[in-house]
Amino acid sequence: MTFNPLQERGIPLDRQLRNWRELNVMPIDPDHSDPYTRCRIITMNGIETEAVFFSHHMARHCPDMAVKHQLAEVRYIEAQQQKAVNWLLPGLASVLETTLAYEQVAVDLTAWVARMEPDPYLKQAYQFGVLEDFDHLYRYANLFEMIEHRKAERIVDGLTEVMPGRPTYLHHRHPIDNVREPYDRSTVEPISKMHALTIMAAEQQTMNFYMNVGPTYMEPIARQLYQEIGMIEEEHVTHYESLVDPGETWWEMLLNHEYNECYLYHSFMETESDPKVKAIWELHLNMELEHLRLAAELFKRHDGREPEEVLAPHLPAPVTFEPNKAYLRELLATQIDYTTIGTGYVQDMHERFEKLQAAVHNGEKPPSELVIDENRAKSGREYRHQMEGDHPVASLRQIR
Ligand SMILES: [Fe+2]
Ligand SMILES: [Fe+2]
Ligand SMILES: [Fe+2]
Ligand SMILES: [Fe+2]
Repeated sequence: MTFNPLQERGIPLDRQLRNWRELNVMPIDPDHSDPYTRCRIITMNGIETEAVFFSHHMARHCPDMAVKHQLAEVRYIEAQQQKAVNWLLPGLASVLETTLAYEQVAVDLTAWVARMEPDPYLKQAYQFGVLEDFDHLYRYANLFEMIEHRKAERIVDGLTEVMPGRPTYLHHRHPIDNVREPYDRSTVEPISKMHALTIMAAEQQTMNFYMNVGPTYMEPIARQLYQEIGMIEEEHVTHYESLVDPGETWWEMLLNHEYNECYLYHSFMETESDPKVKAIWELHLNMELEHLRLAAELFKRHDGREPEEVLAPHLPAPVTFEPNKAYLRELLATQIDYTTIGTGYVQDMHERFEKLQAAVHNGEKPPSELVIDENRAKSGREYRHQMEGDHPVASLRQIR
């Protein structure tokens, strides 16, 4: 069945406001819920945060009072949506537990997007990035075992493997080499625009999360690891945001944002296993349909085009959280030694990369290496959760 958000009726804006009681959602049970439910919550928190921040940016560039008022009204609702969504996370979960879930999102959402992306250059960007977040999961899993004496498999379940990816210390590149070539808004498939927006938003919120929670730790190794990985998430934001065509008008960008929100809420409504969470996805979808209608009105009036000219004729197949173990193993086997040069990729070291590496590491082991050493010393071995056999890269197999 096809679903065209432009043809559907949502909840009128003046009926979208919620009182405190309605906003006070019941959090999920951290021990008995589907890890992918938590992944969907984290994804939508990133999407709503992006909706709010984008709207602020647009308002700051907008001299038209009537438009500013409309942006403020919708943004207030987006902010309530963000609160409702993020407050589904249970207070019982530790920051590190949530961190593992953030990296699980980065792994399984990016892998899914890489598999579905029709444009080869964009696909490569996701394949490149996913091997880095895959490694972050492994580093944080070792920190988790060391300071909380718990195993990451309890968090990611049997859905995502935990083992080395492209080693984290090699993710520190010269900033110039993090800037990709943008897609062309006039020729790219609509689904590609949504993929780029979604992953950009996810990486942005991960960066924000690490930069805020990192200094709340007492343990020096935890403080240092969040700092190091926080810097890489910042690189990832640069990497993914540069895929978006900067030639899109503000009206077009707003339209794409609202359409993408419809797409994701619809996707998660279709795939959600928790009925209470599913009801929130459905409610928010019905709010977004109205945001989209309002954005479409602005687009017609100020951009002079029809929304159908830039949006998909109906929603593509739903964004799905599912295991990507075989796909990730194939990428590990073929792309682990990639780095970037300019807007492209190479398998060799190059001068600019080596210079940045030398400057940032200064001849010492970075926190991402120390955390493994320290956990080996403490637990007698490093932590991994390999369900499908040996590591596909011989040099990264565990020494037993
Ligand atoms: Fe929203
Ligand atoms: Fe990451
Ligand atoms: Fe990332
Ligand atoms: Fe929205």
